[in-house]
Amino acid sequence: MGGSRTLVAAAGRRTWPRAGAHAHVSYTASLCLRRGSQLSCRSSLTNQCWRAAYSSVFATPSTHQPSPTTTTTPKASSPATIHVNGKTYKTDSWFNVPANVLAATTRKLHLQKDHPISITRQILESKFPGPTYKYHNDFDPVVSTVENFDSLGFPPDHPGRNRSDTYYINKDTLLRTHTSAHEAALFRARESPGYLISADVYRRDEVDRSHYPVFHQMEGARVWDRASVPNGDIVAAIYEDLARLPTHDIVVEDPNPPHHPERNPLQAKHHTAAEAEAVAAHLKQSLELMVVEIFSRAKAAAVKQDPNFVDEPLRVRWVEAYFPFTSPSWELEVYYAGDWLEVLGSGVTTQEIHINSGVPSQIGWAFGIGLDRIAMLLFQIPDIRLFWSQDERFLSQFAGVSDNLGTLKRFIPFSKYPACYKDVSFWLRSTSAAGGNSKAANAHDFHENDVMEVIRNVAGDTVEDVKLVDDFTHPKTGRKSMCYRINYRSLERTLTNAETNTLHDQVTQALVGKLGVEIR
Ligand code: PHE
Repeated sequence: MGGSRTLVAAAGRRTWPRAGAHAHVSYTASLCLRRGSQLSCRSSLTNQCWRAAYSSVFATPSTHQPSPTTTTTPKASSPATIHVNGKTYKTDSWFNVPANVLAATTRKLHLQKDHPISITRQILESKFPGPTYKYHNDFDPVVSTVENFDSLGFPPDHPGRNRSDTYYINKDTLLRTHTSAHEAALFRARESPGYLISADVYRRDEVDRSHYPVFHQMEGARVWDRASVPNGDIVAAIYEDLARLPTHDIVVEDPNPPHHPERNPLQAKHHTAAEAEAVAAHLKQSLELMVVEIFSRAKAAAVKQDPNFVDEPLRVRWVEAYFPFTSPSWELEVYYAGDWLEVLGSGVTTQEIHINSGVPSQIGWAFGIGLDRIAMLLFQIPDIRLFWSQDERFLSQFAGVSDNLGTLKRFIPFSKYPACYKDVSFWLRSTSAAGGNSKAANAHDFHENDVMEVIRNVAGDTVEDVKLVDDFTHPKTGRKSMCYRINYRSLERTLTNAETNTLHDQVTQALVGKLGVEIR
């Protein structure tokens, strides 16, 4: 997940230039390695990931104020109950959802006509036609830890479960961190052989132009049932379905074997090699068609703006991956603007999920893709905060596209207001000094996402990014000092000096009040 759930920055890969520099990321094996390190994110579109209060971008005026519910320390001042989507939930000491994030649950950008996120959803859906695929676009964002983690085979100590990474309502209830949270329920429901889920997802993360605590994912799956395929021959049935899919003429690099005993194992207890290979072949063709569609549309939009636009031929490759809920697993990468960009995560679904969902005779594949990053690329939208903007100069540029996808054009930035950088330096309490003060951030329990969230809660979408510029440990006292540089820049207007100073003072006070740091 972005800062902390991100894949290790692989050697030789650079981050995605500007528009989507980082990834909100996948729950892959390597993410564990990332934790605690300061590695930069690898290029990814799978998760925005996990992609605010003050400016007019949020719908709810209350988000313009730091709220008592924004504390990063448990107990402090959580409301006893909260309301999401018309339902009431009891909070407990696990509650950590700030008001601006709660407010975002009402927005449903993936369903807002002519919104770039919604248009992107429509484009992807067009490659997975009904009745084989059924679309589910209005699932509640509040799910249980069982749905979000246990049902998918996440180990109990998986870092994705930490309060530093995930928004909890109470110990057992959270804002979904990915659309896979609905997978088991849909397998159980057996409504259609395939499905797509589009939804808002939530992850605590760093602050920059490609990370936002709320973002959108699309999840898709396709299953076949040994009990109902002709002659019980599931492999033949899958290849027949594959033969019915359209083709494309893109060269796809796929250098790895279909499964590998150590790196990308077959679920040998449940699947024959032929079954897993058939599922994989159908998965790959289906997802390649989707990616070809996205990049053809991106190119058409570029040509519309500049008839002389020439780009390199599309290069696509499959790489081995790991997810707790698929095996073998792959990511699809696209060579874009000089860099390999991870577009989606996918794999043969873990048979235990089918078994536990009461459909043991089914096998299939699943994938997940981040909609915000794809939308940034399609429309050339330079800053993820723009999606939340209600400024007509933004929204009017996409008018009519939902009804006629062929009219999709690139976004024309309406302004770039000046940046204003301000630093805040503070000491973390030493562990012993923290003593009985539950608020004090000591070097031991300090998590960067807490700093990010406090800043967002106070300054909201006027913060473009926050970077750690210095940290050191005092040689004598052993105390740790951190310095963060905050870039204040509104998407909608020029901030006055006085206004920025006031905001920065409020941010500083909030860091002291909520994290117990000592300003230097
Ligand atoms: N849920 C995964 C993520 O958020 C993506 C994924 C979905 C991967 C389905 C494989 C299968 O990173």
